[in-house]
Amino acid sequence: MMHTKLSPMTSLLLFIFLSSLTVGSTGENPFTPKTYLIRYWNKEIQNNQAKPIFLLSKASPLSAAESASFSKLAAQNALGSQLSAFCASANLLCFPDSLPSAFGQKVYVNSTGVNAGQRNYRSAASAKGGSNEFTKQRVEPGKFFRESMLKKGKVIPMPDINDKLPERSFLPRSISSKQPFSTLKVSELKHIFHAGDNSTMETMIVKSLSECKRAPNPGEIKRCVSSAEDMIDFAVSMLGRNIDILTTKNVNGSKQSIMIGSIEGINGGKVTDSVTCHQLLFPYLLYYCHTVPKVRVYQVDILDPNSKAKINNGVAICHMNTSSWSPTHAAFLALGSAPGRIEVCHWIFQNDLTWTVVD
Ligand SMILES: *[C@@H]1O[C@H](CO)[C@@H](O)[C@H](O)[C@H]1NC(C)=O
Ligand SMILES: *[C@@H]1O[C@H](CO)[C@@H](O)[C@H](O)[C@H]1NC(C)=O
Ligand SMILES: *[C@@H]1O[C@H](CO)[C@@H](O)[C@H](O)[C@H]1NC(C)=O
Ligand SMILES: *[C@@H]1O[C@H](CO)[C@@H](O)[C@H](O)[C@H]1NC(C)=O
Repeated sequence: MMHTKLSPMTSLLLFIFLSSLTVGSTGENPFTPKTYLIRYWNKEIQNNQAKPIFLLSKASPLSAAESASFSKLAAQNALGSQLSAFCASANLLCFPDSLPSAFGQKVYVNSTGVNAGQRNYRSAASAKGGSNEFTKQRVEPGKFFRESMLKKGKVIPMPDINDKLPERSFLPRSISSKQPFSTLKVSELKHIFHAGDNSTMETMIVKSLSECKRAPNPGEIKRCVSSAEDMIDFAVSMLGRNIDILTTKNVNGSKQSIMIGSIEGINGGKVTDSVTCHQLLFPYLLYYCHTVPKVRVYQVDILDPNSKAKINNGVAICHMNTSSWSPTHAAFLALGSAPGRIEVCHWIFQNDLTWTVVD
């Protein structure tokens, strides 16, 4: 057989082989970012957990051909030349934002509010958190709770767990790995995403990059990940390969009274380590992941208190050692105690997730 050129017969066989792959279990083209992610998951995660539906829902919707051609453009530093096509097909957050004008102000107002909320929430999950800004605001009922509240039949308030950030997808790693990602490279990012000086887009990019650059708290290991594969790598490096993703199933029960149904404790209800990931606002999906030691993680059936019908399955995390938290942390304002005296629990919000070792 010649090495230089495929014979028509070989091409035909190759075509048949490749076509047969496409009618695998998913019926999808085997070279899309999504099918690549499935193979990556199967290679890296060694257990019999079901497919990571949550992660797959965040995978890039690009076709194999689009992914290849945008990846080529990224390598040539030329994605900016096809920004609108790129944003539309890759499901990114882009908006015309070439001037520091009033345009985009709406998004900015939204995102600031959202970011404040996020910070508030994240501080609960990080080893050290809280700031004086919380003392001025009332803490939403149900945002923090004691572990003793997680008892079958108890009726408790549920906070608003809706994700307020615009929906976006990850980039395929073949593209995200070629993106500038540093506070030193803001001008390159501004060029790609057509963001003018002092624009909303620039502010958003700088804010998230700074959060990624921030030194970890003592004992915390953190990483910003811009692809599903990078997230898997970080979780595996922290927890090993026998891991799974836990998320709250939907947003039902938000801002209402809920009744606690059946409860399942991860690791037999014993203290465990976890990696929790929170979204950051960026043109493409970006997560800030960090280790969260000494937690108890529960999967909780959430019931309608009137009908007792199951409306949700929530993931609750209880931080058992709060001794390094700030005394002004919203959790202590809400629950009325002090660092190290109590455990603090909260729900995993929509589109956030936690990785744990499988029992
Ligand atoms: C931003 O604010 C506008 C106006 O208040 C609202 O319609 C829109 O849904 C908000 N977007 C997000 C992502 O919260
Ligand atoms: C951007 O903001 C800086 C600092 O506020 C200011 O000096 C600069 O003139 C602004 N640039 C534009 C283009 O508005
Ligand atoms: C719960 O949420 C799901 C998905 O959003 C929805 O389809 C379902 O109807 C909700 N169930 C109840 C009981 O509200
Ligand atoms: C709780 O955390 C503090 C500070 O992070 C640490 O010094 C202490 O040993 C921890 N306590 C337990 C019981 O792990």
